[in-house]
Order: sequence, then structure tokens, then C-alpha cells
Amino acid sequence: MTVDPKQAIAAINSYFGSHPGFRALHAKGTLLKGTFTAGSEAASLTMAAHMQGDAVAVTARLSNGSGNPDHPDYAPDPRGLAVKFYLPGGSRTDIVAVTTPRFISRTPEGFVELLAAQGSGIAAAWKLPLVFARHPEMVRNAPALAPSLRPPPSYAAATYHGQHAFKWIDSGGGERFVRYTWLPEATEPRISMREARARGRDFLRDDLARRLERGPIRFTLELQLAAPGDPLEDASAAWPNARQRVRVGSLELTDHETGRETGGDVLVFDPTRVTDGIECSNDPVLQFRPKAYSESVALRTS
Ligand code: HEM
Repeated sequence: MTVDPKQAIAAINSYFGSHPGFRALHAKGTLLKGTFTAGSEAASLTMAAHMQGDAVAVTARLSNGSGNPDHPDYAPDPRGLAVKFYLPGGSRTDIVAVTTPRFISRTPEGFVELLAAQGSGIAAAWKLPLVFARHPEMVRNAPALAPSLRPPPSYAAATYHGQHAFKWIDSGGGERFVRYTWLPEATEPRISMREARARGRDFLRDDLARRLERGPIRFTLELQLAAPGDPLEDASAAWPNARQRVRVGSLELTDHETGRETGGDVLVFDPTRVTDGIECSNDPVLQFRPKAYSESVALRTS
């Protein structure tokens, strides 16, 4: 089976319901603004404009993965951190990451079939085993990823993973494949489901407002560097933990962003919106995402 973006959105809506005006996934989110400043190692790894050391303005969106905008913050869910960097000269580039360390499925088909089966009511009982049989990586990933769906104590204290591989090209023509992780500056103990529920439906959103009153929310961008033989086109497969890691910059979120998504402004975070010095891999999930996002954007803005 090959899926198209319309089928993907239909499957997403079958599971989460249709919520006009909202993103088909990650419907509930909070926009923040701030800056990103690359550290000294970044420029030796890529000629990308935001990695040369000067602070660049960003818009970030912290979100819950559900397509239901009323989904309570205490429910299990991947959380998202999407960052848009405003580059000198007026162009933009995005990094879109989630709290699950890798993707459930190697292909868009696996993900869409999973959602369609889960959204099929009582028929899910016999459909799900067939989907898992067709996409065996999901049998391994579903239980392994479940803990990362637990509600974090704060969006600001969670780790977010870009999952896909991107090629970083330096000014001398040197190339390497990397994966992104945003490491939080804030560290807080994990909370139980019961504690999360006690904190309320919007506790993650409310916590952001309280934190910003005290000062900026910070994350460090860390790269994991691929070694020969590591899967470059499969976001469902981890690279060995021992791979070299390099910290390339810091994100500082200082306030709510109130200037975007008002008065008809459309804000889209697209992981394939790269810039000179960074290239996408041929990961089929990465290549499919912008098509599904465009379909969601067309629906949420119509
Ligand atoms: C086949 C796989 C996927 C599909 C079909 C899909 C679908 C979607 C859709 C329809 C949206 C809403 C877009 C919009 O209206 O702007 C969305 C948002 C998002 N997705 Fe995905 N997605 C996929 C994979 C991923 C992966 C692998 C990640 C993380 C590495 C991810 C992270 C996010 C995040 C963080 C957002 C929210 C962006 C924002 O705040 O605007 N997605 N996704």
C-alpha cells in the first residue's frame, strides 16, 4: 500500500476527530519567541547561516502530539518542539522535534495504517495485528517508545529528538550525517500520571507562562554524528549510543510570541525547510511529511 497525503489526514482524523481550524496533529500548542546562538564548533561542521555564531531570532512552538486541541496535558502523548530560525537575508529554516527518540515506523505507510486501524473502533482488534505483521519495526518500537509518551513535568524540562538524519556540509566541502536533540537546561524529576492529572488539563501551558516570568527557557542543540553503516533513511532505527555527540548552540526562549498566527498569518514548521549547508536525507518519512503538512495547512486555513 502506498499512501497519499489526503489518506494520511483522513487516517489522522479518524483517530483524533476532525477539528477545523487546527493542525491535524499537534493541535494544542504555545508559541514562544527568542534567539538561537551557535557555539564555536558549529561553523566547522556546516556553512548554514544560523550556525555561524551570530544570534538569530526564532519562533518556537511547544505542543502535544494529539490532533485534538482539547486533549488534556496529562494524557500520554509525544510532545513537540518546533523551531523556526529567521536567517539573514529573509529566508527561514526549521527544526521539528518530538520527545520520542525515534519514529514508530520506517515508512509513512506504517504510521498511517496504524492510525487508520486504531481509528476503526471495534475492528481495531483484528486490524492492528495485521498492521504490525506488515511493519515489524513497530512491534519492537511500540513498547520501547511508550515511556517517552508519559507527561513531562514541564515542556521546558523535556528532551526533544529530530529523529531524521540530515547532511551537514562545511565550507571546505566536508560532509557528515547528523541527528538533532534539544537538551533542556531545566532538570526536574519525572511525575506520575496521578500527579500530572492533579496538575490539571493545561498544566504544561500554564507552567510555561510561570517560567517565563522568572526568566528565559533554554535548550542546547546537540548533534549525534553518524558512523559508516548507520541507517540514514530510517527514523525508526536508533544509532548506537556511543556515536560522537557535539553541542552546537543554545536556544533561549524569552516570551510568548503574539505577533504570529494572528490576522491571517499562517505559520508552518516544515522539517525539510533546510538552508545552504544542510541537506535532507532520503528518509521516506521525512520526504512525506511536507506533503501531509501542506494538506493539513490547506484544511486549517480554508
Ligand atoms: C508520516 C509521518 C508523519 C505525518 C503524516 C505527520 C503529520 C503531521 C501533521 C499533519 C502535522 C500538522 C502540520 C500543520 O498543520 O502545520 C504535524 C505536525 C507536527 N509533527 Fe508530524 N507527522 C509525521 C512525522 C513526524 C515526525 C517524525 C516528527 C518528529 C521528528 C513530527 C513532529 C511534528 C511536530 C513537532 C509537529 C507540530 C509542528 C508545529 O508546532 O506546528 N512529525 N505532523
